[in-house]
Amino acid sequence: MIDQQALTQLSLQGYPRFHSGKVRDTFDLDDRLLIVASDRISAFDVIMPNGIPGKGAALTKLSIFWFAQTSGIVANHFISDDLTTLPQLSESERAELAGRAMIVRKAERIDFECVVRGYISGSAWKEYQSEGSVAFVPMPGGLRESDRLAEPIFTPAVKNDLGHDENISVSELRDRIGAEQTGELERLSIALYTSAAAHAAERGIIIADTKFEFGFADDDLIVIDEMLTPDSSRFWEADAWEPGGPQESFDKQFLRDWLLASGWDREPPAPALPEEIISGTRQRYEEAVARLTGPPVARHVDRSRERAGV
Ligand SMILES: Nc1ncnc2c1ncn2[C@@H]1O[C@H](COP(=O)(O)OP(=O)(O)OP(=O)(O)O)[C@@H](O)[C@H]1O
Ligand SMILES: [Mg+2]
Repeated sequence: MIDQQALTQLSLQGYPRFHSGKVRDTFDLDDRLLIVASDRISAFDVIMPNGIPGKGAALTKLSIFWFAQTSGIVANHFISDDLTTLPQLSESERAELAGRAMIVRKAERIDFECVVRGYISGSAWKEYQSEGSVAFVPMPGGLRESDRLAEPIFTPAVKNDLGHDENISVSELRDRIGAEQTGELERLSIALYTSAAAHAAERGIIIADTKFEFGFADDDLIVIDEMLTPDSSRFWEADAWEPGGPQESFDKQFLRDWLLASGWDREPPAPALPEEIISGTRQRYEEAVARLTGPPVARHVDRSRERAGV
């Protein structure tokens, strides 16, 4: 029953589609875009048959929060979430979009993903295991999977609209877009990550890595796309962090566990999700947003020290 409230398919009468991804639909407003986060959810790269009510709104709320939080570091594309400024929306479309849409400046995208990693995971862990390097830079020996890196590192990738993004070295990025722009993207990406990771750490969440996209609007270099959401980042529960293996991501843990236990072969179509998995997943998204946008919490270690009378 809950699933009836999930929005998984969307089109608008008055605005042409600009792009549809796994989760978001983007519509063209001439010099601006309308980015709409649906309630679709993917796991193991497959879109699930059921949506998660509230998920699109959670993702949008979080991006808008981070845009405001980091605007002192670099400007971004966010203009407004006030849909009354879009005259061609019908009342029912406006109701469907409420909370899940943002109006942004249309930018000329820089076709590279600006990935920052504070912890070693995913493709970086694979590279380290086989080459001893991350983003083609040699790393110290003895790192374990999910270990914290001494410093956050910038590991760019080519945006590939078809298939998987391809990691490149910083020097290759320099060859492609020049030293000056590379330096700027690296500096801004690291500054954004460092600021957000410190904010999240005070709320018991590790941002293991994340991906930013940048573009130019009227010659301004700005952050575009979504920012620091569970879809563009690995969020880990700080209390559960245990290097030496993969960590469950904050948002999809329930869903992945259930899918694995269901015996599904990871080929589409995925099985229909039971209501408790839908509501449990929804709760996790809402918890992530509430914690990240809420006040700092006392650190677990501090509480344990208190309990131990230290
Ligand atoms: N302000 C902007 N100006 C121009 N393009 C933008 C802007 N913000 C985001 N984009 C682009 O809009 C598209 C949004 O697509 P979306 O992220 O939903 O799907 P995707 O990246 O193709 O697939 P995935 O589901 O894997 O993320 C991306 O190509 C992104 O680079
Ligand atoms: Mg994308």
